[in-house]
Amino acid sequence: MPSFFRLATIAALFTAALVSAVPINDPNSNPSVLQKRAGGATVIYRCTIPGTIAITFDDGPFLYTNGLLDILKSRNVKATFFFNGNNYGRIEDFAPSVKRAYQDGHQVASHTWDHKDLTTLSPPEALEELTKLEDAFRKIIGVRPTYVRPPFAALNQPVLDLLGQRNYTAVLWSQDTMDWAHPDDFSASYKLYEQLFNNTETLGQPGHIVLQHEVNQVTALQVAPMAIDLALVKGYKVVTVGECLGDPKSNWYIN
Ligand SMILES: *[C@@H]1O[C@H](CO)[C@@H](O)[C@H](O)[C@H]1NC(C)=O
Ligand SMILES: *[C@@H]1O[C@H](CO)[C@@H](O)[C@H](O)[C@H]1NC(C)=O
Ligand SMILES: [Zn+2]
Repeated sequence: MPSFFRLATIAALFTAALVSAVPINDPNSNPSVLQKRAGGATVIYRCTIPGTIAITFDDGPFLYTNGLLDILKSRNVKATFFFNGNNYGRIEDFAPSVKRAYQDGHQVASHTWDHKDLTTLSPPEALEELTKLEDAFRKIIGVRPTYVRPPFAALNQPVLDLLGQRNYTAVLWSQDTMDWAHPDDFSASYKLYEQLFNNTETLGQPGHIVLQHEVNQVTALQVAPMAIDLALVKGYKVVTVGECLGDPKSNWYIN
């Protein structure tokens, strides 16, 4: 397992470099920006509905998806999964988990086929990163998502135009748990949630979109349940990205 985490760490460090190079990807520098229209697509940084929290799990499906779904079900809360087609696991191999996430009412969303930086690809290659996963989703859940998280948060004008042409909304985040940086350290991620929730004034503000990685066992099976329990105790609604934006479920997928 450590090799996965090392890869994730390298990927995330790479992300950090890219993010700092592209101002549009830096929501924390301006937390009042909830979303903006850029190129052909809308980019979402944060929830619009106060008192909500949208926990997002990237890079699956993988070994811990089912256990995480059990945890979500036992607490009767919903989350958002940004699935890949071929990353830590191959989506065909984990089709039952993907189907279950959809049927359980979580928001199933795209993280592209194999997690390439779309801004480095030719237009046909970038398109294929989207359509290959759309086809896989149609086979598994009968529809394809309209929400996407670009790998490495890498966006530029051509990619935004492409996402717009394919009717995608791009979702970044307002709170990173940095789980990739301390994969075996439960308390580091959890402390971020404590900081977030200890300030109850934030209940009246637009909710956070939180970035986690479900391919990290500690995140999926230890941090997630504790964070959810804390959110519920503090009075937050743990919902999908669509719900935290007030976007009806009928808009989350198309054929
Ligand atoms: C995008 O949405 C428009 C309007 O609903 C529709 O006509 C078009 O076919 C959609 N394009 C794709 C690629 O889904
Ligand atoms: C949050 O509040 C709890 C309970 O008062 C406290 O034990 C914890 O240390 C606080 N955590 C942070 C990160 O402020
Ligand atoms: Zn990712």
